[in-house]
Amino acid sequence: MSKIKIYPTENSRLSTVDFNNIPFGRVFSDHMFSAEYADGEWKDFKIIPFKDLNIHPAMMALHYGQSIFEGMKATVDQEGNPLLFRPEKHIERLNASARRMCMPEFSSEVFLDAIHQLVDLDRKWIPPHEGSALYLRPFIFATDKFIGVTASQTYRFLIITLPVGPYYSKPVSLKVERKYVRAVNGGVGEAKTCGNYAASLLPAKLAKQEGFDQVMWMDAHEFKYIQEVGTMNLFFVFKDKIVTPATEGAILKGITRMTILDYLKSEGYAVEERPLTIEEVKDAYRKGELIEAFGSGTAAVVATIDRINDTDIDMRFDESNWKLSSEIKKYINGLRAGKIEDKHGWIVPVGST
Ligand code: COI
Repeated sequence: MSKIKIYPTENSRLSTVDFNNIPFGRVFSDHMFSAEYADGEWKDFKIIPFKDLNIHPAMMALHYGQSIFEGMKATVDQEGNPLLFRPEKHIERLNASARRMCMPEFSSEVFLDAIHQLVDLDRKWIPPHEGSALYLRPFIFATDKFIGVTASQTYRFLIITLPVGPYYSKPVSLKVERKYVRAVNGGVGEAKTCGNYAASLLPAKLAKQEGFDQVMWMDAHEFKYIQEVGTMNLFFVFKDKIVTPATEGAILKGITRMTILDYLKSEGYAVEERPLTIEEVKDAYRKGELIEAFGSGTAAVVATIDRINDTDIDMRFDESNWKLSSEIKKYINGLRAGKIEDKHGWIVPVGST
C-alpha cells in the first residue's frame, strides 16, 4: 500500500498553458510531492497543490549549500500513455549526491511511487510533441534554522514538474575555459549539487560576452583533459571511434551519457570512455579526422556543437556531418515517444510499479 497521501488541487492551471509555446523552466504543473526529514527519518509523504514555500532566513541550505537535485523526464507514447525513462538510475544518483553532501538518502521505493503517482495525477501536463516532455525536478535541501557550518538535522524533499520543449533550440558553441575550473577530483563535481551550477555562471557569462553559448571545462590540475559543459556531458566522433571523457570523480555521471554509451555499444560502434585531452581533439580536427561533437543531458537530450574555440584554434563543425548525433537523438526521442522498440528495458510505463 502506498505511503503517500494525495491532496488534489481544486484550481487546475492547465487551461492557461500554450503547449505550442512553452519557455523552458518557467511553467509549473498543478501538483508537487513533498516529504520531510526529522528525528532521523523521512516522513509526511504527500502530493499537494503546487505552491510557494515559507522559509526561515537562517535556513541552512541558503547559507551552506546543502542542496541536491535531479532532472528526469516523462513523455507520452502514441496512445497518450505516460512513460518514464530509467527512473531507478535517478534515485541511485540522487542518493550518491546525498552521500557526498552529508545528507540523508531517500527510499528508492517511495521515490518511484511518488514519481508514478505525481506523473499520473498531472498526466495532462505532458506535452504530446516528440522532443517535448514533462521535466521532473526532485530536490532535497537543508532546513535547519541555524548559522554555523555543520550538517543540518532536518531536510525537505520536493518533486516539482514542468512541461518543457528542448533546452537548446540551436547548435551550441563552446569556448575552452582556460582560467576558471568547475570541479577537481575529490571535490563535488560528480554530485548534482547546486554550487556546481553557481560556479559555472560567471565563466558562462564571460564566454557569452565573447559570442559563445557555454564553456568547455578542463581538468583543474593541468587544463589538459576535457571534462564536460556543466549543462551536459560531451562526446567526440572521430573517424574510427567515438570518445567520451571518463567521469573519474570530477564529471557528472550523466544518465543520458550512460544511455548513449549503452546504445553505441549495443549497435557495435567503437566507443571509448577514457581521459581525453584537448590536444587529441585539436590534432584530429587539423587532420580532418574529427567529424562531430555533441553534448548529452536530460534537459539537452543530444545537442549538436557547431564551434569549439581555444586560444590557438577555432574549430567549426559542418551540419551536413551530424549523422551520429542525429541518429542518437532520433533514437532517444523515438523511444520516449513509444515509437521504437525498447530492447533495453529503459522505458517504464507510469503505473507499472
Ligand atoms: C538536466 O539536464 O536535467 C540538468 O539538470 C541540467 C540543466 C541544464 C537543466
